[in-house]
Amino acid sequence: MTATDSSILNQYLVGKEPFYQPQHDEVALFEAAYRKRLPVMVKGPTGCGKSRFVEFMAWRLGKPLVTVACNEDMTAADLVGRWLLDKDGTRWQDGPLTVAARYGAICYLDEIVEARQDTTVVIHPLTDHRRTLPLDKKGELIRAHPDFQLVISYNPGYQSLMKDLKQSTKQRFTGFEFDYPNAELEAGILVQETGVAPSIAAQLVTVAATARRLKGHGLDEGISTRLLVYAAMLMDDGVAPRAACRMALVQPITDDADIRATLEHAIDMTFA
Ligand SMILES: Nc1ncnc2c1ncn2[C@@H]1O[C@H](COP(=O)(O)OP(=O)(O)OP(=O)(O)O)[C@@H](O)[C@H]1O
Ligand SMILES: [Mg+2]
Repeated sequence: MTATDSSILNQYLVGKEPFYQPQHDEVALFEAAYRKRLPVMVKGPTGCGKSRFVEFMAWRLGKPLVTVACNEDMTAADLVGRWLLDKDGTRWQDGPLTVAARYGAICYLDEIVEARQDTTVVIHPLTDHRRTLPLDKKGELIRAHPDFQLVISYNPGYQSLMKDLKQSTKQRFTGFEFDYPNAELEAGILVQETGVAPSIAAQLVTVAATARRLKGHGLDEGISTRLLVYAAMLMDDGVAPRAACRMALVQPITDDADIRATLEHAIDMTFA
């Protein structure tokens, strides 16, 4: 690799160890998948630690992490690259997937189901024995760098028939199913992330338990670990517990008056 090549990836290195609280044996399993360069999918509800896990693993493996937030307007060119026109003529610009495959990074496609299927198929030759990426418009076939690995994440809760991965895409990956951490681990995460007192962390987790029971009964998703972190941060800044909970745990997740009343009742009982 030339100096220029390695400097391209420098910006993607995870500098400082991210705090990650393992839930099960996912760290060892991811390492095994990486040793064999198997593609990995991480499924789970919003704000349960998927991205934090991938960031932590990239740090632990000492590999750069190229993250792409997928959306329905994304085209294959947004992933692989395109010809650009400037004053000196045309020049090729690698997309993020190409950068990762060419120079050897972990490429993390976040919310992959948002991308259209004709976009998603560009990852197929990279995720089987070929480990290649054809740049049709450039007439180049990239052989993936030995360090390259593909990781995707999505939230199966939002899945509809229109927005699902094809079996031929799914069956190129190994998978992890994530969920919110158990009460003890989640309280520990809140303490680590925000410095909030363990007793308050435990109370926040209790409120979350109520909301998570309402999933499918008026709520599409329970309260995420991310929102609990927000509530704890507000309290750390001196906001009164009930106000912090309303702002971080109730307002963002529902507009339904009944559900709101149920959640506010749970908050009042917990922080009485
Ligand atoms: N296991 C964990 N260890 C440390 N922090 C965690 C963990 N799980 C959740 N968190 C906290 O929750 C926040 C949200 O986690 P993260 O961004 O990884 O969610 P996500 O699953 O990627 O959600 P989304 O699907 O919405 O992108 C993190 O910023 C972190 O504060
Ligand atoms: Mg994420």
